[in-house]
Amino acid sequence: MKKCLEYTLLLIISSLHGLALSFTGSLQQRIIGGQEVEPYSIKYQASIQYNNYHYCGGTLIHRQWVVTASEFTFIDKELNTPMVLSEHNLSSKEGVEQVFNVSKVLVNYMYSYRTFDSDIMLLKLEKPAELNANIQPAVLPTSLAPLQGGTVCTVSGWGVTQVYSYYLSPVLRAVDVQIIPQCQYYYYYRITNNMVCAGSPLGGKDSCQGDSGGPLICNGYFEGIVSWGISCANKHFPGVYTKVRNYVSWINWIIDNDSTS
Ligand SMILES: *[C@@H]1O[C@H](CO)[C@@H](O)[C@H](O)[C@H]1NC(C)=O
Ligand SMILES: *[C@@H]1O[C@H](CO)[C@@H](O)[C@H](O)[C@H]1NC(C)=O
Ligand SMILES: *[C@@H]1O[C@H](CO)[C@@H](O)[C@H](O)[C@H]1NC(C)=O
Repeated sequence: MKKCLEYTLLLIISSLHGLALSFTGSLQQRIIGGQEVEPYSIKYQASIQYNNYHYCGGTLIHRQWVVTASEFTFIDKELNTPMVLSEHNLSSKEGVEQVFNVSKVLVNYMYSYRTFDSDIMLLKLEKPAELNANIQPAVLPTSLAPLQGGTVCTVSGWGVTQVYSYYLSPVLRAVDVQIIPQCQYYYYYRITNNMVCAGSPLGGKDSCQGDSGGPLICNGYFEGIVSWGISCANKHFPGVYTKVRNYVSWINWIIDNDSTS
């Protein structure tokens, strides 16, 4: 199951949104197994919206570029899919949000919608974000040493807070998960070298629908993009993330090529 909100589901969410927020307000479990973050403390977190509703997460990596998952191919510069930075509570205008239209959409040339391999996409903001105390880019990985199993990472988003729920969290939440080695064992060889798994050995902690495209940060580096998984927070099926370190040269190449053009 993709961790993306399906389009039809989005329409349902859109029409139920007021209702949704009142329900989520009373649930205790968030992202799944996480908690509300200190407002604006995840300075690189982006909310990609559609018709004014949160659709997917993204990660600011440069004043004018956001990384998300390729699966959101509906994102088009012709569509009004604004990108919001410095966001915390989706249902209130806090006055510190920065909103951008997208001027370029670049899906990785290796992306496969059947295997979800290379699930990474770059979005160029129409104008550069103003960096401030709430908005700072995430740091791309520099090391090529493999991520060790058990490394503690943090994933954040406005995704659903319970398995099978359709209700987004109104406020940004985060949960700590661990890198799970030997993920092939769980997913029968569907894990490529461009994916990394993270979860909790006991289950109960995970990203889920609506978190897709958002950041997994390990030891201060942007190591993963919420991509896919079977169900959510199930100990037998860790969350699967795009392995960002495999795309650092692609990202840098795109940004460099763009600024010289
Ligand atoms: C989010 O903002 C709405 C509207 O201002 C408010 O009613 C709600 O309590 C806020 N939610 C949280 C969890 O702070
Ligand atoms: C995005 O583009 C639409 C359509 O051109 C425009 O109405 C809107 O004001 C733009 N939003 C921002 C944040 O620039
Ligand atoms: C690289 O820059 C050239 C020249 O401006 C442009 O035509 C091309 O589309 C760019 N390539 C990518 C992948 O952005």
